[in-house]
Amino acid sequence: MTYIEDFAQIIEEQLERVERMKNAQEAPDFASMDKIVIGTIDGDGIGPIIMDSCRAILEKLLADEIASGKIELRTIEGLTIENRIARMETVPADVLAAIKECDLLLKGPTTTPGKGDGRPNLESANVTLRRELDLFANVRPVVIPEKNIDWIFYRENTEGEYALGSKGVDINDDLSIDFKVTTTAGTTRLARAAFEYARNNGNKNVSIITKANIMKKTDGKFLSLCKEVAEDYPENKVEDWYVDIMAANLIDDKINSNFNVFILPNLYGDIITDEAAQMQGGVGTAGSANIGGRYAMFEAIHGTAPRMVEDGIAEYANPASLCRAAVMMLRHMGMTDKAAVLETALDDVAKALFMPGDGRGNTAYDFTDYVLEHI
Ligand code: IPM
Ligand code: MG
Repeated sequence: MTYIEDFAQIIEEQLERVERMKNAQEAPDFASMDKIVIGTIDGDGIGPIIMDSCRAILEKLLADEIASGKIELRTIEGLTIENRIARMETVPADVLAAIKECDLLLKGPTTTPGKGDGRPNLESANVTLRRELDLFANVRPVVIPEKNIDWIFYRENTEGEYALGSKGVDINDDLSIDFKVTTTAGTTRLARAAFEYARNNGNKNVSIITKANIMKKTDGKFLSLCKEVAEDYPENKVEDWYVDIMAANLIDDKINSNFNVFILPNLYGDIITDEAAQMQGGVGTAGSANIGGRYAMFEAIHGTAPRMVEDGIAEYANPASLCRAAVMMLRHMGMTDKAAVLETALDDVAKALFMPGDGRGNTAYDFTDYVLEHI
């Protein structure tokens, strides 16, 4: 097959995806469900350590619901880099089937083989899961009370540069091409989720972030669709910014507290949310929700920290990010009181313990003990 035929096939697949999006399932009504299954996925590197901590905390927090059978915490095995390589599947089929039997997922970080690191070229498990479960909104809050910063990022999670990230083409030794995708359905549903949040949380300032002056088709479409959706929410102040100047604005203390809700395409959302998380105290402190129709997956914003594992200091990993994701999960389920209890304990443990992640200070076990005592 020539690359022209490859490209035709890519277009076919994307058009099929557009049709599937039009028939997407609605979110379940958790309050009326007899049983909610939460799948927990350890992941790689520091993943099992921080997941052990988070699971112990949830087992205590949800003890009544677990005892009555209303909630099941179900361990999903096999999403490890070893098993994925052995099977040569990004998410092995049986693991994906087990995942799809859950209602919600709490996921530790998973290794993504990079070009030239000696591992086979498997796609990122995150990207595969986001696509397979159609988790279109990546929601990442960043709160810095002393700077009066209260941000929430709505990052598009299935399209942009990620939709075909593993399907770029080396035309020859001199030319490589990647693809970027924007769809009407994909953008509109994300924008709607962001504006609904803004409406339900007190008419926020909404900033649409693109590079529509350069990526005229994909970002151009993203921007104009977001503006169209904005017309249904006239109570919000809506601005559009280019991603480069927004990266600067975020660290400008004279103006950064003016921003509230951000809507971003996938790759800019990836980059900008790491910047924002770093301002809050590091990527180890930020939770992340991947929201779809039928499914939702909650995870730490950071990776597997391979250097901590190599240096033998994995037990110093901070479970805060995964636990923040668990707070978002509890809210998503409508368990706002339990979410608030855990959130307060997380605010307290951040002040009480010293966890720089470099082998000094407190361990993940100290963290677990502290939080268990305070919930
Ligand atoms: C994130 C991560 C992922 C991404 C990686 C692990 C594929 O950086 O969730 O932000 O790029 O989306
Ligand atoms: Mg990232």
